[in-house]
Amino acid sequence: MKLNPNVRYVLYSTILCMLIRLFNADLHAQTVKTIAINTDKSIAKVQPNMWGVFFEDINFGADGGIYAELLKNRSFEFSKPLMGWAVQREKANEGDILVVNRKEENSANPRYIQVNTSNGNLSLINEGFKGIGVKKGLRYDFSMLYRLNTPGIRLRLQLVSSDNKIIGEGTLVPEQSVSGWKKQATSFIAKETDAKARFTILFDGKGQIDMDMVSLFPGDTWKNRPQGLRADMVKMLADMKPGFIRFPGGCIVEGTDLANRYQWKKTIGPIENRQLLMNRWNTEFAHRPAPDYYQSFGLGFFEYFQLAEDIGSDALPILNCGMACQFNTGEVAALDELDPYVQDALDLIEFANGDTTTKWGKMRADLGHPKPFNLKMMGVGNENWGPQYLERLAIFTKAIKTKYPDFKLINSSGTDPEGDRFNLLNTSLRNSKADLIDEHYYRSADWFLKNAGRYDNYPREGSKVFVGEYAVHADREVIGSNRNNWQSALAAASLMTGLERNADVVQMASYAPLFAHVDAWQWAPDMIWVDNLKTYGTPDYYVQKLFSTNKGTDVISAKLDGKNITGQDGLYASAVTDIITKELIIKISNTTEKAQKVTFTLDGKKNFKKNGYLDEMASNNLNQLNSFESPDAVSPKRKSIVVTNKKLQLTLKPYSFSVVKIPYLK
Ligand code: AHR
Repeated sequence: MKLNPNVRYVLYSTILCMLIRLFNADLHAQTVKTIAINTDKSIAKVQPNMWGVFFEDINFGADGGIYAELLKNRSFEFSKPLMGWAVQREKANEGDILVVNRKEENSANPRYIQVNTSNGNLSLINEGFKGIGVKKGLRYDFSMLYRLNTPGIRLRLQLVSSDNKIIGEGTLVPEQSVSGWKKQATSFIAKETDAKARFTILFDGKGQIDMDMVSLFPGDTWKNRPQGLRADMVKMLADMKPGFIRFPGGCIVEGTDLANRYQWKKTIGPIENRQLLMNRWNTEFAHRPAPDYYQSFGLGFFEYFQLAEDIGSDALPILNCGMACQFNTGEVAALDELDPYVQDALDLIEFANGDTTTKWGKMRADLGHPKPFNLKMMGVGNENWGPQYLERLAIFTKAIKTKYPDFKLINSSGTDPEGDRFNLLNTSLRNSKADLIDEHYYRSADWFLKNAGRYDNYPREGSKVFVGEYAVHADREVIGSNRNNWQSALAAASLMTGLERNADVVQMASYAPLFAHVDAWQWAPDMIWVDNLKTYGTPDYYVQKLFSTNKGTDVISAKLDGKNITGQDGLYASAVTDIITKELIIKISNTTEKAQKVTFTLDGKKNFKKNGYLDEMASNNLNQLNSFESPDAVSPKRKSIVVTNKKLQLTLKPYSFSVVKIPYLK
């Protein structure tokens, strides 16, 4: 075939370009970099709890998320008392559903509804939190508090699918109340699966009944605890083996004002006594309004401690320091009225650790946990700043350290990892010998890469660092699940090699936020996404999990041309040994578009086994996401590796993060 000269020119030059690119790529791959690992000398100990998780009730993380309650506004305490509920009846009668307030008698849970069924065909429908997730064959547990004022009412309970089929049914026949409120429960099995069902209560018979705490839970909660947590979400955490759980936030600790701050004492004991609060994320973002976002505190401080214990993590509560969110009201408690705040902190330590003869230790025992929770640390304030924070912190520190000298306190360095606010706090806190300074950074991928060496020159003595919240944000404007891409996770992994290398300085770290509901989020990116039935981990989830399940015990040196590996040729690396499992663990990211050849020289006296393995995360597409459909699109893939003459040769894929594990004999 004869080609026209123009076409021939384009064709030949395209082929030539391709050959040059291939040659360059190959050349690049052939330039083998040698990374020297000194496998004998421990530079620093890795804290056993170094890699943890940050839990906040944001993005419907608790209510509508991990707390498995399926009915929204079960206690009618939302600002609009019937929000989440619809009333259906043949003919409306004045007062057939009456919202009654008895705040003098019950200030924590003042409202209930009084239902008059005399008109017939009355039903109440709950929409759930963005629908109700129902699983075929699963048991559903309904319960409520009630007073039957006149006999003869029967409740038909129905789960109704999004296409209007009854997919689960039960009945509850209330008994005449002799005195006061009565709790009654019944269970039934669902016949179909639907992520967006609704729940209907149909009233048969004529009469009047008062109802409160109208509740529906799935039968498959974590550890089958009644009215407990969503097992699939807890499992995602348990699989990470996090060293600690930081809770309950975040900004919800501070509240928009002091009246709406988080108060742990109001979150323990019978759930009907836990006073509901509007969630501060309800109104925070005009672009993501969440008018139905409230905190029921069904997941309260006892449950947080229990969760931490269940999954083998240290509990790390963060308490309000007498300051409301400085982005909102910035309200502060007067210094001479700080006592109740400080007392809350002291009482929390007693609640967690005190013996059962103490007031709060007894409370813990009465709630079913006589054994102490062994709380070792607490944060005083979340993202607070300024001299007003330092003044309040000093009062807390004195009171807590006087009573519990070894108890560790985490102090805030504000919202940003640099700037005047940070500098003031960082300097003052170091001067006052703070145990741990909490640094937060939501920054671009580029910032993360540039800061992989941030801690290489930090002071080795004195205050330690807790990176309490961090995540790659493309910029402050671009948010959304589409930002949970491989680029973000790869940049975070690269920075985390710098945290690990400096484990003597950075003693703990947690990505933030943790959970987001696909239909109800306010803030993104987030580590784990859920809907009403399923979960998936983002690439960041897998990066975090690789670090926390391969933390090692001792940092060792890993150098390229005698230098820490903080971006030379787009490489970032750190190494640890695990003296318990007897393994060398190397973490390395290649942030370039090219494959790169590296040789690790394993210097020292250790006798390495020949065969090891590599967990590799890679994608040529930096925008690659995971999703419900492809939850493992970017996730670790295991490969075997061979060590020859104390050398390991690897070709690092373009845009990859790898964790190498090599066992040794001694
Ligand atoms: O993680 C989301 C929010 O970011 C936290 O509530 C707050 O501490 C920070 O500003």
